Amino acid sequence: EKGGFEHFMLKEIFEQPKSIGDCMRGRLNAETAHIQLGGLINHLEKLAKAKRIVFVACGTSWHAGLVGEYLFEELARINVEVEYASEFRYRNPIIKEGDFVIAISQSGETADTLAALELAKQKGATILGICNVVGSSIARLTDAGVYTHAGPEIGVASTKAFTAQVTVLAMIAIATAKAKGTIDEGEYRRLLSEMAAVPQKVEEILKLDADIKDISKLFTFASNFIFLGRGINFPVALEGALKLKEISYIHAEGYPAAEMKHGPIALIDEDMPVVFIATKDSSYEKVVSNIQEVKARKGRVIAIINHGDTEVKNMVDFAIEIPTSHEMITPLLASIPLQLLSYHIAVLRGRNVDQPRNLAKSVTVE
Ligand code: M6R
Repeated sequence: EKGGFEHFMLKEIFEQPKSIGDCMRGRLNAETAHIQLGGLINHLEKLAKAKRIVFVACGTSWHAGLVGEYLFEELARINVEVEYASEFRYRNPIIKEGDFVIAISQSGETADTLAALELAKQKGATILGICNVVGSSIARLTDAGVYTHAGPEIGVASTKAFTAQVTVLAMIAIATAKAKGTIDEGEYRRLLSEMAAVPQKVEEILKLDADIKDISKLFTFASNFIFLGRGINFPVALEGALKLKEISYIHAEGYPAAEMKHGPIALIDEDMPVVFIATKDSSYEKVVSNIQEVKARKGRVIAIINHGDTEVKNMVDFAIEIPTSHEMITPLLASIPLQLLSYHIAVLRGRNVDQPRNLAKSVTVE
């Protein structure tokens, strides 16, 4: 059942070209320049007029929500808030007419997320769900939604469910932007063809597995890690840190790269590995100077870069080269090497990667 892989997590990481493809199948067609999300058919127009979207989620799904924030703000120009479901439900949240509350949940059973959604419903919001498990409690409660179609995820550490959530969020954001007229036809088509190219690009990234394993060997005994990224890749840094924490039990923190100088930089010395997402996007130059700051303090740097970026490659200890894409879509690519890095470090430390201590696949208690 693990399909020849040593762990479910590795199998699920390697399934991503297919799961991302499945998620887009029958929904996104780059040739005809169409996005059709059956579950949202009656809500898209209203979503395009939404004053505000609030994402409620926990853990990895919350990170997907943060990616969604960048997508919806940039493409559809809608105000977005991303809330930990557990915090949202114990506040007295302000919900106004025209607000959408969207729950993101792999299992569709997370108690905090379900309760947050119930509260949003009581307060009159339109509630949508992005779930993986068909017929789950959250899917049943919502007015409408989009399934991620990633297939069953067994590993406690979420991998393919995360990339499918981001795929769904990108499709909704692009479709909303198109309906709203906040992106032009050229940009719309470019986004669709970049989306369609993701499965093939992920396939390419997975070929780096052996190289990433080699890098992992040199960091197996690290006691800390910092993950840094900016813009839409800031949530990818958070997700990279969570993944490593969960399965290897190494203390790791994710930050927006520019926040480093406000505190975390004090931690940098030759024993501190720092993982940068340094793809060639609008914050590239700034991230490069953050890398220089870490190197000046002897930190060891692993950087996710685009193919052929010799500038950063020559600056860092280890470079992991991934294909270029549209900036708004890079999280789907940049998150893959981080999943593999965590996986290999955890295996090398002898951890039970599929069932890490103290964790459950779905958290049905508050
Ligand atoms: O099923 P959900 O997406 O609602 O689960 C939310 C979190 O419990 C989950 O993402 C958790 O953080 C994972 N272990 C992350 O790998």
